[in-house]
Amino acid sequence: MTARVIMKLKVEAARLTTPKVLHLRLVHPLKPELPAWEPGAHVDLRLPDGKIRQYSLCGDPDDRSAYEIAIKREDAGRGGSRGAHETLSEGSVAHVSAPRNNFPLQQADRHLFVVGGIGVTPVLAMVRRLSAQGADFRVDFCAPSEHDAPLLPELRAICGERLRTWLSSDGARFDPREIGRAQEGDQLYVCGPQRLLEAVRAAAVELGWPEARIHAEAFQATLDENFKPEPFDATLASTGETLHVPADRSLLDVLRDHGVTMPSSCELGVCGSCVCGYRDGVVIHRDSVISVTDRQHRIAPCVSRARVAVTLDL
Ligand code: FES
Repeated sequence: MTARVIMKLKVEAARLTTPKVLHLRLVHPLKPELPAWEPGAHVDLRLPDGKIRQYSLCGDPDDRSAYEIAIKREDAGRGGSRGAHETLSEGSVAHVSAPRNNFPLQQADRHLFVVGGIGVTPVLAMVRRLSAQGADFRVDFCAPSEHDAPLLPELRAICGERLRTWLSSDGARFDPREIGRAQEGDQLYVCGPQRLLEAVRAAAVELGWPEARIHAEAFQATLDENFKPEPFDATLASTGETLHVPADRSLLDVLRDHGVTMPSSCELGVCGSCVCGYRDGVVIHRDSVISVTDRQHRIAPCVSRARVAVTLDL
């Protein structure tokens, strides 16, 4: 994988915000300021197993002295997050990239957020900014229990009555229709597990929300295991060269085999590092990062493919 430039940051503080979620505050050992970022941004973190994963920044975007992230331990996962929990403690070194933003705040009269579990991380940074601006917003936060709701005290302190919690332990179940009909100037953000995204998106469309005003960030890859890849051809617009992508290779791999330098990070369609433009062709989008509008001309070659042929803006 090709990752972005990695900084060695010091873990200044580490604490469990729930039994499974480790909250870290990271500082540069020499520089007083880290690269600037906007709410919704994430960084790449190199985990102890060498894998690179994306974590949203959840601290104050106006505080350049530190980055804050929260890592959920995935016991059923590939071990990376478990390793991070075991090795990242006060004083240790974390390998972190400069921030990138695939989930920015939009211009709006009112911002509505639906959050599931660890999906709270980018939203915390977003509401910090909106609160400082005196903007109108509301957050619906779904979690199994108060005990298992990451960063809930921080969210409560910022949101006050603008926060509604939906805790399964209290028998409270979030009905996606709670978002209500879109009013002029509303923007809707959904962040959390894929099934929450799908349920909220379906309800929003039914309630008349235009797709362009629904913004989602998945906290897991959405790849369909039953997908059967087919071979296709990819033409490079700059040279006219046509590359054949066999069924068992990704477009990203084939581009690299032919000397095209492509950045990448997650290679799961969630980070946006590899995204490039395309012109002609029917693309089979399999990422969870490109918006519905941008899918007309952007492709994530780490996971997405084309029917028969595609021309890339490369
Ligand atoms: S490398 Fe992350 S979306 Fe392709």
